[in-house]
Amino acid sequence: MGKNLTRKILEAHLAKPARMKPGEEIFVKVDQTLTHDINAVMTYLAFEAIGLPRTQVETSVSYLDHNLLYLDNKTPDDHIYLQSVARRYGVYVSRPGNGICHAVHVARFGKPGKLSMGGDSHTPHGGAIGMLCIGVGGMDVATAMTGVPMRLKMPEIIRVKLTGKLKPGCNAKEVILEMLKRVGIKGGLGKVFEYVGPGAGALEVNERATIANMGAEMGATTSIFPADEQVRRFLKAQQREEDYRELLPDEDAEYDGEMEIDMSKLEPLCACPHQPDNVVPLRNVKKKKVQQVFIGNCTNTSYADVAKAALVFKGRHVHEDVSCTCGISSKQIYKQLMRDGYMEMLTDAGVRLLEIACGPCCAIGQSPATRGVAVRTSNRNFKGRAGNPTAEIYLVSPESAAATAIMGTFASAEEIMGADVEILGGIHEPESFPVDDSMIIKPLPEEEASQVKIVRGPNIQPLPVPEPPARYLKVKVSLKTVDNITTDDITPASAEFSSMRSNIPLMSQYCYHRYDPDFAGRAKEMGQSIIIGGENYGQGSSREHAAINPMYLGVRAIIAKSIARIHKGNLVNHGIIPMIFENPEDYDRIDRGDELEVRDLPDQMQTKKIWIHNVTKNTDFQARLELSDSELEVISCGGQLRYLKRQLEGKM
Ligand code: F3S
Repeated sequence: MGKNLTRKILEAHLAKPARMKPGEEIFVKVDQTLTHDINAVMTYLAFEAIGLPRTQVETSVSYLDHNLLYLDNKTPDDHIYLQSVARRYGVYVSRPGNGICHAVHVARFGKPGKLSMGGDSHTPHGGAIGMLCIGVGGMDVATAMTGVPMRLKMPEIIRVKLTGKLKPGCNAKEVILEMLKRVGIKGGLGKVFEYVGPGAGALEVNERATIANMGAEMGATTSIFPADEQVRRFLKAQQREEDYRELLPDEDAEYDGEMEIDMSKLEPLCACPHQPDNVVPLRNVKKKKVQQVFIGNCTNTSYADVAKAALVFKGRHVHEDVSCTCGISSKQIYKQLMRDGYMEMLTDAGVRLLEIACGPCCAIGQSPATRGVAVRTSNRNFKGRAGNPTAEIYLVSPESAAATAIMGTFASAEEIMGADVEILGGIHEPESFPVDDSMIIKPLPEEEASQVKIVRGPNIQPLPVPEPPARYLKVKVSLKTVDNITTDDITPASAEFSSMRSNIPLMSQYCYHRYDPDFAGRAKEMGQSIIIGGENYGQGSSREHAAINPMYLGVRAIIAKSIARIHKGNLVNHGIIPMIFENPEDYDRIDRGDELEVRDLPDQMQTKKIWIHNVTKNTDFQARLELSDSELEVISCGGQLRYLKRQLEGKM
């Protein structure tokens, strides 16, 4: 049997072992790394602590793109640190205003066949050009930058055959929302979705990026499309045709599973609050008053996306009760839209243009009103994601978002445009972009770089390093959560909180702030504690602060029904033991405040089964460690930083 595309790329990067069996651990060499401002300080502090002179991968890029509000000194302190540390270690910097990391990376750095790891869960965006892009925690990015092969659970590779053609007024967003409807937010765990077939071949790179980007919402390891004529055209438009190489699955490629979507049958869809898989046809969403529309985010503000939204607005106006904003994903897209007159259509319609940044997507500005209904083109609609837990967030395509802004309630482009909706079918990505890399700072030559002084403002606090697990643990339960806790619940997003991410003593005070405002104080008072979680604990964003802050507050273990992939990796890296209930019903037999006792913890960990005594209830239960041997070594060392230093010093 032939090989699929994912396997071909993994094989080309395989360091060990020779066999690649789904579910088993493999180690792969990484070509590129990506970080962004609100997660990156910890990554570079860790890289500094490791002590290498320079990044060891082909290309490392640091994007300053998420928090550009500069409410006080904290974020500028972070940005100055990030810029100086990048100069010191041979890392490219994409300056504020150049664009959102994923949009810029695929356009300016991505290459078919390369393997990248990024400190952001939507790193799979780059799968649009036949690149294998995996979202990881910040400590993993620091590790990848050392050039050591990275561990990865060999995924199952699912063939998603796309057929048919999207109707005008429908967007690639419909394809990924249909996937979410079918697969669910946990259905992609341990899987790569490889999109093939005539429908996939007809999708342009920007449309593929929407689908690959939101594969993260299914918990997938990543998603990928072939590098074909569409990719060649895209790279040519980016004046990088020389970076193109054809990369296709073999005709008789073998897969671990199959799905099929006929895109011609799709209609405008909507993900309702508060999970991205709560998908229904847009026409079935109750017609309530919409308070806010946001057309923005890395997922859906390509040139064609915004141009189509602008055409829906053309000659019409935003409803007087709607606040409608638009944040475009890169400077080059912004310029091209301006040249082609689409920005004028937006402003004429009363759309407010925002800075080129992530912004409202992660609650950095434009929070909805109290109990406001927000309609967004983003990829996440978790409670509180927009900065206001009373709000409801609905996810739709840019075409539907524009129609909704005009109507003041949920509407599709067809409802607004009638037969003219056909015009939208004629909008494509440009044949050439106004390429301008003046906002990208190139790495310095090694000798010059070694002289660079790293600038640390008062917001840059040292990275806390955990201790190895104690032999005997007798600690209380500081928190018991429901299912599907997100990293946003653990570490809230917003301009204010995001600017604290390089200052753990400060930020940890706001751990679980919106979910349980007393948690941080309680955990601190307990000294050491355990958190009890439900299903899919730690889903969503890759932010490792959701592990670092609890660790700093003394949380030694999470015992949950299941733990999301990236978050589990972050827990391991930061020395919190991720345990899974052997019998999920034991979850119901534990309460907050119960005292739990574990004896001979390091020895029990080696068996990957741990007996826990509930002192308060006088009961016993068992948890298991769903960890590979190398993950077990990391956590036994007291986290990735200690482990890596020992490894690089040749002590392991
Ligand atoms: Fe930025 Fe939101 Fe994408 S925070 S990277 S626009 S998911």
